[in-house]
Amino acid sequence: MAITTCVFDAYGTLFDVTSAARMAAARPENSEISENWAKLANDWRLKQLQYSWLRTITDTHTDFWQVTQDGLDWAMEANGVSGVRLRTELLELYWNLKAYSEVSKMLESLRAAGLKTAILSNGSPDMLEGAVSSAGIGDSLDAVLSVESIGIFKPDRRVYDLVGRHFNCTSEEVLFVSSNGWDAAGAAGYGFTTAWVNRAGEPLDRLSWFPHHELKDLTEIPNLAGV
Ligand code: LAC
Repeated sequence: MAITTCVFDAYGTLFDVTSAARMAAARPENSEISENWAKLANDWRLKQLQYSWLRTITDTHTDFWQVTQDGLDWAMEANGVSGVRLRTELLELYWNLKAYSEVSKMLESLRAAGLKTAILSNGSPDMLEGAVSSAGIGDSLDAVLSVESIGIFKPDRRVYDLVGRHFNCTSEEVLFVSSNGWDAAGAAGYGFTTAWVNRAGEPLDRLSWFPHHELKDLTEIPNLAGV
């Protein structure tokens, strides 16, 4: 069946999550992270995701902004940095992330071909609104779907249900795109055609399902969608 709907994970897929620590580290007042900003960013991301999964399996949901802050607090301590000013700065940068350079053009070509486009993210609605508006891509999206409408994180199947419910489409019509191997795998298990955007050249996640496509960035998405 032809793809009618392209759905994107947000953080790490459309928005560069490492840019918050990278941009903060470039400021003279933040010399304490100039050497280790990449490890700080990586620890922050990993803890944020671990907390999302742990909160799901322990049935203690808090929204993604809370797990983002909790992950940052762990990562700052692990990397020997502290301070309310740096913490606030990193969180402000995370709230206003920029999109990867190819995102706008890619979304525009999908929409020009009559396909629907959407975000499906763990992010809370207000965080997603911040990122979508600072990246200037709101007009290229038909929907921004947040897990907060059901209070559970990906890769729970109920999250992927939100797509069919919103667009009134079948899973065969959906191309799901994520930079998270586990998210692309979960979505493949759900029944979406999936593309894993593996910018960092990471190994494949050993799970029960595998992404259908592996890409270096988002430029090939219109081709995959049949545009
Ligand atoms: C999201 C995270 C998982 O946007 O990247 O859902």
